[in-house]
Amino acid sequence: MPDGREVNRFTLRNAHGMTATVCEFGAVLVSLEMPDRHGQVADLTLGYDSLEGWLGNTSYLGATVGRFGNRIRDGKFSLDGNTYQLATNNTPGGIPCHLHGGVKGFDRVLWKGEVRDNSVIFRYLSPDGEEGYPGNLDVTVTYTLTEENELLWEAKAVTDAPTIVNLVHHTYWNLSGDPRQSINDHFLQINADHFLPTDAGLIPTGERAVVAGTPMDFTTPRLIGERVNADFEALHLAGGYDHCWVLRAGDGMRLAASLFHPPTGRKMEVFTDQPAVQCYGGNFLDGSILGKNGHSYAHRTGLCLETENFPDAPNQPSFPSATLRPGEVYQHKMIHRFTTEPTV
Ligand code: GLA
Repeated sequence: MPDGREVNRFTLRNAHGMTATVCEFGAVLVSLEMPDRHGQVADLTLGYDSLEGWLGNTSYLGATVGRFGNRIRDGKFSLDGNTYQLATNNTPGGIPCHLHGGVKGFDRVLWKGEVRDNSVIFRYLSPDGEEGYPGNLDVTVTYTLTEENELLWEAKAVTDAPTIVNLVHHTYWNLSGDPRQSINDHFLQINADHFLPTDAGLIPTGERAVVAGTPMDFTTPRLIGERVNADFEALHLAGGYDHCWVLRAGDGMRLAASLFHPPTGRKMEVFTDQPAVQCYGGNFLDGSILGKNGHSYAHRTGLCLETENFPDAPNQPSFPSATLRPGEVYQHKMIHRFTTEPTV
């Protein structure tokens, strides 16, 4: 690190040609390599070649985001009669809000990593008042690569004072393995009948809108590029797909979304225990990031599938609670399951 602290990275491998590399800085997923249907191995994630690159990661590539993933209106919330003001570090539509944990969120801190079997466990102690959030928060994030070709990301947190938590994994996926290609030719399916419309500041209005009959309907697999430029208010406001879909109700782990790239046959299914998934189609990528292998990341060359609680939940009583109290354990698990499909 610039201040001399050591940074470690770890590579997990399985017997099927998959590798996952993770790093203590930001608890990021540095890369995920996987064969296509012909055995051709490629890295399916956007990122950087060196720590210097990751230090300048302002687009949350591969990151573990916290304490609160996505947006909080005006950067303000109240809890037990106290009002907290967080950084307003994002201004969509010129309207300031809090995004992804603030100026120095969990994506920009140094975690401590430890290897256990086929897992890496990262731990970070976030002090009371960090980025304006109350309570000392003790956080662990565990990455596991299984012999079933699954990458697990599991987050846990405990606090010593009431606070809010919504930890999010923010990898940008491109199943082609070539980040110069758009994700518009991927098929996406989302297990959701409703999405959360936003205002111009990309904060949910509180409405749960029906997806049926709109370009937000991914209940069956659809090409991302087919309707991304449709004349539809939600797409205009966000500049494409960048919304929270409310997952069909259910207990425990269930399918949130699946992504399929026909030319390579690669498929990724994301399972979660969370109530929602933010699908962000890389609309803010504009070619200015110089990523791995000297490639710059152009508009819509990565898709994030961020399982989560609803954005702005601390300010919206009709949304699931994001409050964590002493004695409770915040838990969030996501499984990325990779397969290949034969040529059809
Ligand atoms: C999230 C948000 C997007 C954008 C990206 C980071 O996925 O939904 O609006 O802020 O993070 O660039």
